[in-house]
Amino acid sequence: MANNADSQNDEVCIEVSGLWKIFGPSAEQILSSEIRTATRDEIQEQTGCVVAVRDASFSVKQGELFVIMGLSGSGKSTLIRCMLRLIEPTAGKIIINGEDICGYDDKQLMAFRRKTVSMIFQHFGLFPHRSVIDNVAYGLKVRGATEEERYTRAQEVIEKVGLKGWEDYYPDALSGGMQQRVGIARALTNNPEILLMDEPFSGLDPLIRRQMQDELIDLQEELQKTILFVTHDLDEALKLGSFIAIMKDGEIIQTGIPEEVVISPAGDYVREFVQDASPAKVITAGSIMTEPEVIIYDWQGPKVALHLLKTSKSDHGFLVTRGRNFLGLVTEKSLAELIKNKGQSTRQALEPDIATCTNDMLLEGLFAMAVATKYPIPVIDDSGKLIGEIDNETILSSMVQYKETEAKEQETGKKETTTEETQSNV
Ligand SMILES: Nc1ncnc2c1ncn2[C@@H]1O[C@H](COP(=O)(O)OP(=O)(O)O)[C@@H](O)[C@H]1O
Ligand SMILES: [Mg+2]
Repeated sequence: MANNADSQNDEVCIEVSGLWKIFGPSAEQILSSEIRTATRDEIQEQTGCVVAVRDASFSVKQGELFVIMGLSGSGKSTLIRCMLRLIEPTAGKIIINGEDICGYDDKQLMAFRRKTVSMIFQHFGLFPHRSVIDNVAYGLKVRGATEEERYTRAQEVIEKVGLKGWEDYYPDALSGGMQQRVGIARALTNNPEILLMDEPFSGLDPLIRRQMQDELIDLQEELQKTILFVTHDLDEALKLGSFIAIMKDGEIIQTGIPEEVVISPAGDYVREFVQDASPAKVITAGSIMTEPEVIIYDWQGPKVALHLLKTSKSDHGFLVTRGRNFLGLVTEKSLAELIKNKGQSTRQALEPDIATCTNDMLLEGLFAMAVATKYPIPVIDDSGKLIGEIDNETILSSMVQYKETEAKEQETGKKETTTEETQSNV
């Protein structure tokens, strides 16, 4: 799962504010007049201009995989192309690493495109008459690297994207997935800070597409780039995004982490997108865990442990080290047994085979664990620390809550149709 909050720092890398792109001759006039508030269709009808991006604002943190999702025509490509000024915005600011790139002159812009940002396109954009390695090394040639530097670096990234052995082939000998790997390798050669990806996997078969998504997650884990990823596919957005912005008719109508988008979709448009997404596939252990009810430290003897259970009216507790590292589960019964046998260390009362989960585990993975035990599931972090617990009730209620909201929406939806029907009958 890519939405691993601790793999990011909080530094803002990209900050877009009030960004507009209007295609057509009278773009500026539209912005300075009242008509700017009209709908996209009205504006197009009255002026012949297309509002491709309307007053978009968002910020992307360093190392974040930020997904822009929307149907075809919603303005995603225009927005992402503005980030490189392949399209000139009509108004607004694009601050990258503290500088407004809209104010860059040609020279600054060229340097910015060569060093800071790389783009990966849907249709790969490879040179058909150059070999794989020449395609990958091309960007470095433009930057003036020596031949040796270029090919050493190209070889490195080719291996990173799993294309070793294909260096001398031409693009048309490669499958779609492999061609896009060349596209990714080419974008990575100059080690850019930011990657822009415009529906990079949309042209691929579903199976290959999923594989490429997994590879991108691995690559991101390793390289920690800031990625702006455009897609029209919700599953892809939920799988990859640590943050999602949803566009409609040029506007960003909702932003949030994947769970927020699924659990509380803003408006019908987003709801329609998410209605097929199961909460089991997006809700994470970390988002529903609670503070463990009883924590026992391993220096506390069995009698103290039993006393702690009794005072908190619980029949079990989690045993941890001084640093709160998870050791396991002890129960009223196992402690009483130990005391009877004159055991000294509470560790001797640990129940065998207690399964744990991490905070990014999905609800669907928790179901199987939940049925295997009557005790809560302990949640531990990467270093083995106990950070929470999840009981069966919490798992169920998070599902039920979701289902109820869904049912309620269907009901209101039904009511509306009935009223409509009644009206049309009248
Ligand atoms: N060069 C252009 N001239 C006029 N209209 C354009 C141009 N490029 C895109 N558009 C229009 O802007 C809107 C947004 O397009 P685009 O950014 O390509 O959307 P998406 O990538 O979400 O499919 C569409 O209505 C499209 O027709
Ligand atoms: Mg597009």
